[in-house]
Amino acid sequence: MLAELSPALIAEVKLAAKLLKTKQRICLLTGAGISAESGIPTFRDKQTGLWENYTAEELATPEAFARDPKLSWSWYQWRRQSVADKKPNPAHHALAQWQYDSQTSAQQLTLITQNVDDLHEQSGSTVTHLHGNLWRNRCNQCGVPHQNHARDSYDNDNTVQFEDTLITCSHCDGYIRPDIVWFGEALPMKEWQIAEDAANNCEVFISIGTSSIVYPAAGLAQLAKQNGAHVIEINPNPTRNTIVDITLAEKAGIILPLLVQEMTQL
Ligand code: APR
Repeated sequence: MLAELSPALIAEVKLAAKLLKTKQRICLLTGAGISAESGIPTFRDKQTGLWENYTAEELATPEAFARDPKLSWSWYQWRRQSVADKKPNPAHHALAQWQYDSQTSAQQLTLITQNVDDLHEQSGSTVTHLHGNLWRNRCNQCGVPHQNHARDSYDNDNTVQFEDTLITCSHCDGYIRPDIVWFGEALPMKEWQIAEDAANNCEVFISIGTSSIVYPAAGLAQLAKQNGAHVIEINPNPTRNTIVDITLAEKAGIILPLLVQEMTQL
């Protein structure tokens, strides 16, 4: 497969593999781009169908939910419906393989994601979610987790319609919302601490499929760089991030399997 890539990109992949092979503490941050090849649109893609007249910012904020909870909730139910049958792609599988291999090597991999899908978990990875989880719900008012996780109602044949009627909390009567970090909300403390520690202490930081414009997650690469880490970016449309040392300008589903394969051959 290496032969299909340009000689310059092949050289960069080999360089990245060589570097990684000599380092022990690796922090990886994934964004919507890693799930794009599984058929989940990224945030910067224009929304389609029913929701094409809305931006994510109009639906995924505390203000949007307060203004029109049914609209926000319906959008998430629609997203659950559209993500329910999606499967991990070669990028997720390569990371899972690398994480598995690291159990018997000296490497310590910390995988952080901004994604709310569960494709990393489906592929067997252990991952820290910075922006919540599409399949969890909680009360918007008292915060209590809601028992009826939407994923439970999905039976793999893609026939289940997610009910878009609002649910209320049995404790306080507040509305149930997805357990997702909306624009303007704080990140979960424990998860952020894991990410910050990993970025602070890593020798290599790899940014995969993220536009690196949504903070604080976008600041993790800078934090790593300030502490002496090398920064690698995997993105077919490289960002204008000036702190990147190695740019692998191709789809994650092509680069990551190659990178992992190269490392095992060294
Ligand atoms: N492989 C790697 N990268 C890809 C691929 C692919 N196959 N396809 C697209 N990309 C890149 C795009 O070039 C883009 O830079 O993925 C990036 C996706 O960017 P965003 O849609 O902005 O996603 P992300 O960075 O994860 O967004 C961050 O913003 O809306 C909020 O909370 C939401 O977690 C999300 C956060």
